[in-house]
Amino acid sequence: MRVLLIGPPGAGKGTQAVRIAAHLSIQHISTGDLFREHIDRGTELGQRAHTRIRVGLLVPDEVTIGVINDRLARPDTERGFLLDGFPRNLRQARALDGILASSRSRLDTVLDLRIPEAEVVRRIAGRRLCRRDREHIFHVDHSPPEVAGACDVCGGDLYQRDDDREATVHRRLEVYRSETEPVVDHYEAQGLVTAIPALGPVQEVLDQALGAISRSQGVAEDC
Ligand code: AP5
Ligand code: MG
Repeated sequence: MRVLLIGPPGAGKGTQAVRIAAHLSIQHISTGDLFREHIDRGTELGQRAHTRIRVGLLVPDEVTIGVINDRLARPDTERGFLLDGFPRNLRQARALDGILASSRSRLDTVLDLRIPEAEVVRRIAGRRLCRRDREHIFHVDHSPPEVAGACDVCGGDLYQRDDDREATVHRRLEVYRSETEPVVDHYEAQGLVTAIPALGPVQEVLDQALGAISRSQGVAEDC
């Protein structure tokens, strides 16, 4: 199963991606998380990415496409994958089409998480991530940890991303509108997109996402 999760910053992509990937036993691949790993390790790629991420701009395509190309070449993606945060512009979408075509595979479905921008700002302002495992995501109001500042799953310290300041969030939303919304149209034209209202509770959004995936499996089997 090859799933793509798209939606503005703070829509809940990471929150849903972890659950969907576990449910389907496929790899969760987040370009944002891959860049943050490089930043923490102090690699050259991480330094290059950081200058763009901290001001809310996209990392250059040649860097991003290279990272995804390498990741999708690893054998653990043979069973399938869920892409979170890639592709983010039309050039990346066409590159992904090329990568998939060269391995004679294709996307099964694209889930478009829809959420009003005012809620994006609220969600991002309250988000806290675990330093040990970025897939452990909390919110100070909606899903607070039992002990303030500590991860419920592994006890790691919780922190706030440095691109989660309000001015940077507005820049990320502008970039989403201008660069990433056309990607939704690109996949609409291929009949792959299901819009998922993402304002409700986490479990409700998850149920809708899994429902859309299972309908797309039915369609794939009919083809
Ligand atoms: P990335 O890390 O992908 O960030 P993003 O797309 O801006 O999205 P976020 O991770 O901020 O939000 P999310 O949708 O995952 O929400 P979450 O589940 O955490 O990218 C960061 C940067 O890296 C980019 O700006 C760019 O610079 C660079 N980059 C990445 N990919 C790139 C690419 N392909 N090309 C170029 N550059 C790239 O949830 C948010 C909060 O809401 C959490 O606190 C959560 O607990 C809470 N929450 C989630 N769901 C719910 C719910 N249903 N109800 C209540 N609260 C909820
Ligand atoms: Mg995320």
